[in-house]
Amino acid sequence: MQVKIIGAGSIGNHLTQACRRMGWSVCVVDADPKALLRMKNEIYPARYGAWDSAIKQYTPDTAPRGGFDIIMVGTPPHVRMAVALEMLSEKPKILQLEKPLCAPFDKNLRKFVVAYKKQKATKVIVGYDHSVARSMHRVAELIAEGIVKDIQTVDVEFREHWDGIFKAHPWLKGPQDTYLGYWRKGGGASGENSHALHLWQYLARLSGLGRWKKVSAALKVEKKGEVEYDSLAAFSFETDSGKVGRVIQDVVTKPTRKWARLQGVDGFIEWLCNGAPNGDVVRYAGADGAVKEEIFEKKRPDDFHQETLHIQDILNGKIYAKDSPLAFESALAVMSVLETAWKNHKKGLVLIKQIK
Ligand SMILES: NC(=O)c1ccc[n+]([C@@H]2O[C@H](COP(=O)([O-])OP(=O)(O)OC[C@H]3O[C@@H](n4cnc5c(N)ncnc54)[C@H](O)[C@@H]3O)[C@@H](O)[C@H]2O)c1
Repeated sequence: MQVKIIGAGSIGNHLTQACRRMGWSVCVVDADPKALLRMKNEIYPARYGAWDSAIKQYTPDTAPRGGFDIIMVGTPPHVRMAVALEMLSEKPKILQLEKPLCAPFDKNLRKFVVAYKKQKATKVIVGYDHSVARSMHRVAELIAEGIVKDIQTVDVEFREHWDGIFKAHPWLKGPQDTYLGYWRKGGGASGENSHALHLWQYLARLSGLGRWKKVSAALKVEKKGEVEYDSLAAFSFETDSGKVGRVIQDVVTKPTRKWARLQGVDGFIEWLCNGAPNGDVVRYAGADGAVKEEIFEKKRPDDFHQETLHIQDILNGKIYAKDSPLAFESALAVMSVLETAWKNHKKGLVLIKQIK
């Protein structure tokens, strides 16, 4: 399997290692030669023990074009769509775009959607890796088994201080130095932690709650000079079947809480990403009220290993790309919510009339 990965940053390293673990050939392309050197000399050896000399590196002017089975785009969100359009024209079997799909209101997204619908050669998926974690498969299984009967509501939170991101990028002084400090580039809590929005719509669909139809969003906007991002985003949804649920994403919470909860008539299912020191936790109870807990051991590279195993299943025809939790359409739906939220978040909140 021949893989091209665009972007030698944090996610580029994760995806490269996951593809090498599958035994796939990888070439990595980055517009910044310093990023390629940092990958080879610092990030990859520090994370995975040693540099792997089978990995080839290129700047875009020298990068090979065409003939790839898989192309993955791990650039910042605001440049992703322009790169994605170019990569789609190379006709890989799979084009994987990182999350969030792009910056809100990116005109190239519209162009990409047209180009994507016109072609048949490439299946497009998006890197919302938590939706294909082993622990999430277990949640899906429990929903299908009906252990909690009708599900009434779904809550998802991805609350994580972004200190961790800056520790992984010591060459950045803070959000001002990267897309993270600019919501218009796809940064801030609503874009960066959009795993929660993605999981909510996935779990709502599996639970029979339907598709999100209405949203009210409260965004805590931080503005200092050019820098402008949301540090906290709270979304309430109503679905096309009239069910209500909630998503919270932030970049201020310590310790991290990445959590989902489904409340059924007969019990609940709860998912805690890294809820145990050695992995994810799924906790649930049915009609008898007895709480059961299962741990799914993993380390961070295993998240991306699951993703590459999933890609292999799509390539082998075991999973239909449009039915995959990673389907392009699911990430497009997240962008619809993000654009709606940024357009309307001030209207969505009603002044509380104080009782005096
Ligand atoms: N799925 C996940 O769990 C996960 C984890 C980390 C990051 N991400 C996502 O991946 C994206 C990138 O994040 P990151 O932390 O790796 O960023 P990063 O800044 O570390 O890396 C991005 C790299 O892309 C390169 N780049 C920019 N424009 C380019 C172009 N036109 N052609 C080639 N290279 C180009 C930059 O030089 C940089 O090295 C973000 O959208 C982020 O949300 C996803």
